[in-house]
Amino acid sequence: FTAVDVIRTKRDAGELRKEAIDWVIDAYTRGEVADEQMSALAMAIFLNDMNAREIADWTDAMIRSGIRMDLSSVGKQCVDKHSTGGVGDKITLPLAPLVAAFGVAVPQLSGRGLGHTGGTLDKLESIPGFDVTMTEDQVITQLRDIGAVICAASSDLAPADKKLYALRDITSTVEAIPLIASSIMSKKIAEGTDALVLDVKVGSGAFMKDEKRARQLAETMVRLGADHGLRTTALLTDMNTPLGRTAGNGLEVTESVEVLAGGGPSDVVELTVALASEMLALAGMPEADPAQALRDGRAMDTWRKMVTAQGGDPDAAMPSAKETADITADRDGIVTTMDAYSVGVAAWRLGAGRTRQGEKVQAAAGVEILKTVGEPVRAGEAVFRLHTDTPERIEPARQTLNGQWSIGTNPPAPTSIVLDRIG
Ligand code: URA
Repeated sequence: FTAVDVIRTKRDAGELRKEAIDWVIDAYTRGEVADEQMSALAMAIFLNDMNAREIADWTDAMIRSGIRMDLSSVGKQCVDKHSTGGVGDKITLPLAPLVAAFGVAVPQLSGRGLGHTGGTLDKLESIPGFDVTMTEDQVITQLRDIGAVICAASSDLAPADKKLYALRDITSTVEAIPLIASSIMSKKIAEGTDALVLDVKVGSGAFMKDEKRARQLAETMVRLGADHGLRTTALLTDMNTPLGRTAGNGLEVTESVEVLAGGGPSDVVELTVALASEMLALAGMPEADPAQALRDGRAMDTWRKMVTAQGGDPDAAMPSAKETADITADRDGIVTTMDAYSVGVAAWRLGAGRTRQGEKVQAAAGVEILKTVGEPVRAGEAVFRLHTDTPERIEPARQTLNGQWSIGTNPPAPTSIVLDRIG
């Protein structure tokens, strides 16, 4: 094979044979196929798609690019959750300890922020002392003792995805169903979990903007899971409005702790409980009541143990930003819309995300939503509070939000966050 032949086949909307896929993924991982060649192939896949057989072979090749973890010595059912990425999506933080409180092991190997979407690892690192790096032995011991682990995946797990993801991020080839499905499922299958719940986001703040494509993505991933003996279900959930009232690392940790204390915004609680119910059903506990475990402190106990075990101080104050600025309402009314994508971009510009690979994010930067969709507001009252350590970032964030939210007279029709279940 040569990379030029493989690229040409997909450029001309042909089908890639298994041998060609195995070769190109392996050669790319070893550095033999160059980034510019893989970029061209990713764009050809983006434009001309892949059939189910090609996606399955591509996913297999990505799994085989690295190690497979063996979680069999944990001695508990292992159930994981993965979100396709959203704005204000801090659900992993309350969810992992909540499900672990029922005796299930939750191995959350998580990622960093990507574009306008936040990353779980960046959020946890805003807790003083929290360390996201762990060896496989440490992961297994903590799963056995506490049940919940949220850490970075080892560099040997699906290394082809690590390289390819970074490339897609800078070549505008993220939003392709074959590429997203193989990226997520190769990591989860290599991780060795027994079951998986996918949170497939749809809407302005998601990579899939329309429901038909999000559904197709969910079905593709559920099928890949089944083919590998990984019990997988998916929830299709709304991402047109930010989740909860915060987007930004430390701000989202504070909000997650409120949920673990039995409070917090109702949409965050609703989604956390819905995903926990799915995970517990896959672990053979369809009757479990996760909402009760948030109210009675069991989930909080597990959170405190997990944070302490990973070097963090669960009682430490979260860092606060050097500068804050409010965006206020210009009239009385009801907040009727708030665009998730714009809130994500504003948080990113304030310093919650990166503009270059490897850049440090600000723990305290982000957007706090003081009045959310459906809530009344008076002229002059603050709707958003912007947080940053770099004052010159306030104005770009303000511009980003300009025109991306609205005040009306009639309350919007109530919407459900879970749109459908697949699998
Ligand atoms: N999350 C991933 O891990 N990979 C993708 O391609 C998109 C979201």
